[in-house]
Amino acid sequence: MLEHLDWGKRNRMRHIIREDGRVLMLAIDHGYFMGPTTGMEIPSTSIAPLLPYVDALMLSPGILKTQVSADLSNIAWVLRASGCNSILDEDIDNESLILTALEAIKMNASAIAVSIYVGADHQHQTLKNLAVAIADASQYNLPVLGVTAVGKKLKDKREKRYLALASRIAAEFGADMVKTYYCEGFEEVVAKTPVPIVVAGGPKLDTYKDVLELTYQSIQCGAVGVDMGRNIWQSDYPAAIIQGVRAIIHENYSVKEALDLVESLQTEENRRQPLFAETKEDIEASKIH
Ligand code: R5P
Repeated sequence: MLEHLDWGKRNRMRHIIREDGRVLMLAIDHGYFMGPTTGMEIPSTSIAPLLPYVDALMLSPGILKTQVSADLSNIAWVLRASGCNSILDEDIDNESLILTALEAIKMNASAIAVSIYVGADHQHQTLKNLAVAIADASQYNLPVLGVTAVGKKLKDKREKRYLALASRIAAEFGADMVKTYYCEGFEEVVAKTPVPIVVAGGPKLDTYKDVLELTYQSIQCGAVGVDMGRNIWQSDYPAAIIQGVRAIIHENYSVKEALDLVESLQTEENRRQPLFAETKEDIEASKIH
């Protein structure tokens, strides 16, 4: 899958997608438009118990520099390179690039991530962001992750026809990986997208079984892994659920086996301690994407 890539790009991709062809990417970039999202108010504290189980972190440049130790050597960074909007706007598709490839290389990133909002008001602008980022990143053999984002107006677009369209466009532009949502018939989205796909978790699901099913089905349909955030760090036992997700991705656990593992890890030590009062507004705000 990575054979056709130049040496530098292949090596960077290998830091993300591990030798077994799979990846557990932890998404913590939400603050770039959601601010201090519930469960990620102080990123260094939230991610500390999760790092041992993570292959790659997807995050914003400012959070990498202030919240993650430069001494960590076994985790890849995928840096968010598009932004410039917030949840206060009517929609969030009015994005520009916020990071150059050179800046990302200086932070030893393994890839940059750019969102596209296919079908939204700013479709053209966000696709142009992806094209510009790919041209910039290719100077350094830096991989680009194309993120098929939805936002408020496109929320009902989590279905295979739309996701295959958006994912394919990202791949056609030259994105090296695509992050999209899981949907019924997802194997078709994977088949029609000629680059590795990682699946976003989306807003918090009701049960751990749902999270594990999502992971399991994604892998069965051909995704190389997940790029999951809220369903891990907003859960009551983040260190437990991440190990269940990891076991499915890297150890081929069934949902039942992974659920047993998660349940066995729901100890006091693994319980998330909310650092601030979690208001209804905060929780609602974190569900818009
Ligand atoms: C948007 O907030 C980001 O691109 C996230 O990285 C993405 O939505 C994945 O995180 P989650 O699993 O919370 O949806």
